[in-house]
Amino acid sequence: MHPAYIYSKKDKMPSCDTLIRNASVLDGTGADPVLLDVALLGDSICEIGPSLEYDAKITVEANGLSLSPGFIDVHTHDDTSVILAPEMLPKLSQGVTTVIVGNCGISASPVHLHGEPPDPMNLLGDATAFRYPTFAAYVAAISDSQPAVNVGALIGHTSLRNNHMDRLDRVATGDEIAAMRTQLQEALDGGALGLSSGLAYLSANAASTEEVLELAQPLAAAGAVYTTHMRTETEAILDAMNEAFKIGRLNHVPVIISHLKCAGIVNWGRSGEVLHALEEARDSQQTGCDCYPYAAGSSTLDLRQVDERVEITITWSTSYPEVAGQSLAQIASAWNLTQLEAARRLQPAGAIYHSISEEDMRRILSHPATMIGSDGLPNDPRPHPRLWGTFPRVLGRYSREEKLFSLPEAIHKMTQMPAQRFGLAGRGIIRKGYFADLVLFDPEKIIDTATYTDPIRPSEGIASVWVNGVLSYTTQGATENRSGRFLARGKTTWIQ
Ligand code: ZN
Ligand code: CU
Repeated sequence: MHPAYIYSKKDKMPSCDTLIRNASVLDGTGADPVLLDVALLGDSICEIGPSLEYDAKITVEANGLSLSPGFIDVHTHDDTSVILAPEMLPKLSQGVTTVIVGNCGISASPVHLHGEPPDPMNLLGDATAFRYPTFAAYVAAISDSQPAVNVGALIGHTSLRNNHMDRLDRVATGDEIAAMRTQLQEALDGGALGLSSGLAYLSANAASTEEVLELAQPLAAAGAVYTTHMRTETEAILDAMNEAFKIGRLNHVPVIISHLKCAGIVNWGRSGEVLHALEEARDSQQTGCDCYPYAAGSSTLDLRQVDERVEITITWSTSYPEVAGQSLAQIASAWNLTQLEAARRLQPAGAIYHSISEEDMRRILSHPATMIGSDGLPNDPRPHPRLWGTFPRVLGRYSREEKLFSLPEAIHKMTQMPAQRFGLAGRGIIRKGYFADLVLFDPEKIIDTATYTDPIRPSEGIASVWVNGVLSYTTQGATENRSGRFLARGKTTWIQ
């Protein structure tokens, strides 16, 4: 023992807050893992290398577990959850460190309600959840509530329509579009990431392509993106894709197609065609998509999607709350009605539609243009399992077990790719000087456990999650140290 020597050496050693030793680092770029140490100081990564010598307040022995950038959930409806349930357990427990809210045309801000929120804004909560007449008010509420994960925000076309139109079943007038655009511009100035639309929903379906084209004008100068739940995901999906590409092309804005899928039985088997259309667009413009790893969708109950051949589960119903969890077929037969009649009676309601083919989903999920987005519905009392399971399911089931893509590729889809596309500066890769949003997990054990019948279950295999350098989740659960931030839009770098 030479204590003097140790002390003098320690004196010279740089100090850090956390030293993670012997981690198999998947840096987010898609590169193969490398066994390294990673040192964290404050909210950032201060050094990476083999056998780092640091005087660390906390040392974590990773024993070869995988360390990757925290996952970015690009498609969420967590707008009000990040404020009302800031622990964000469904996401944190998956290794998610950033959520992007405001998808599918519905954002919690800027919103002025005139009564109850129109469908599908009601997915974000009832009227009391909409308290943010300006984007600035929403950003302030995030700072006040200090969620456990970072929050980037899109502005919803349907929310803007709700603010400026007396009825939503018509196209907006020039003045209304101008008023919406002013609100969009204000939000972009405040750091919003872009505009989302939900043209399939009846609250936006009457909007013309021109309405969205005109509204989207400020995006290019801001360096923002356009994301879309397209006008249809069924038979006319190629037309809907062309509409989305046109809006991006004419406005010189990147397009992200939300939850790309071939919905409805008659549409099964068309993923090749759909991906071909996506690839063609990518030859001439910045385009990508996101996808969730399940063969069922979920939203409010849409009468147009009622198809006796498709299994539909009712997840909630305001008129008949007692039927939640039952299939529409069961309910219809108990009531002696057709499924369509029963669905009408259940309104307003939520549903899970088993209307996607597993084959198509796998093909879309595997495509190099595809990011991972849960589309989880946190206010649903019996949510689709994607809310709690998406990311570990992609890693455990589809990468490790089914070998659809390599682990580094899977991590890339949920880290660097979304950070670049949405302009989340300093995030999405493990690099010196980058923010310390990190997840340590066991690549042999990581797996989702949430199911359709038991959907509220944390995944397995997540060891530790750091958000802005703060240890926020361990195998014991959340640590009570919440350190998420509002993420204002940075520069987008689009790598096709
Ligand atoms: Zn959607
Ligand atoms: Cu959505």
